[in-house]
Amino acid sequence: MRRTGRTEHGGTAEALRLVGVTKVHGTADNAVTALDDVSLSLPTGTFTAVMGPSGSGKSTLLQCAAGLDRPDRGKVLVDGEEMTGGSEAALTKFRRQRIGFVFQQYNLLPTLTVLQNTTLPLKLAGRRVDKGLARDVLGRVGLAGRLDHRPDQLSGGQRQRVAIARALVTEPRVIFADEPTGALDTRSAGEILRLLREAVDVHGRTVVMVTHDPVAASSADSVRFLADGRLVGRMTDPTVDGVAERLAHLGDLVHSEPRTEV
Ligand SMILES: Nc1ncnc2c1ncn2[C@@H]1O[C@H](COP(=O)(O)OP(=O)(O)OP(=O)(O)O)[C@@H](O)[C@H]1O
Ligand SMILES: [Mg+2]
Repeated sequence: MRRTGRTEHGGTAEALRLVGVTKVHGTADNAVTALDDVSLSLPTGTFTAVMGPSGSGKSTLLQCAAGLDRPDRGKVLVDGEEMTGGSEAALTKFRRQRIGFVFQQYNLLPTLTVLQNTTLPLKLAGRRVDKGLARDVLGRVGLAGRLDHRPDQLSGGQRQRVAIARALVTEPRVIFADEPTGALDTRSAGEILRLLREAVDVHGRTVVMVTHDPVAASSADSVRFLADGRLVGRMTDPTVDGVAERLAHLGDLVHSEPRTEV
């Protein structure tokens, strides 16, 4: 784990930091505290899984950390720079430069080809649309022969590989994935996990993935457990059985571990 200085892939040693992040959905009578004072620090070049019961705040955590939603309190720092605060336009620009996002339902644009979907983030960020780079990335995810296909001509696993290529093409500091294997069969899920692992091991990216699946979580370097909007535990070098066991006892952990960690 690199703790200080610049890393071999550029950027700082700490890719993501959350400090006291709190998010309340809704107002007054129907207010739900989805995140309650969450602090965490993730070193560059690590793969972290986030797990917890339905409604525990996993997606809210990812959305706030990725700049797709704003916390009510607390700070988010990406690569040492604060993302929270600032205008909507500044937040969007920051996100486009430094963050990649992969969704469970792919979120590809149906009228664009595979190549066009992949180059779209470059266009939106006002960067040169380097088709050679996009072709390389699509080759890496095994779609070199599908550049001109549209999403409805692809399988679910292939669509998710386009989404991964789209997330990788801007060379973001952090890639967030919310249940990226949730809609896929075991084999396609395995391919997606291998690609996320490769983004970390070969390209020095930092990946944060929400998952319900202990098998998917076991691809990560560590797992953070959420319950009731709070971080309630972590596991390094997770195994499938170890994760499943911890999940089954998550209720017991809620009040037994410190609620914030750095
Ligand atoms: N837009 C919203 N308005 C009101 N409440 C919301 C909103 N989004 C989420 N919530 C609530 O916040 C809490 C956390 O939701 P979140 O989607 O982050 O959970 P999750 O852990 O991702 O769950 P799942 O595993 O089902 O995807 C839940 O109680 C949810 O009902
Ligand atoms: Mg969710």
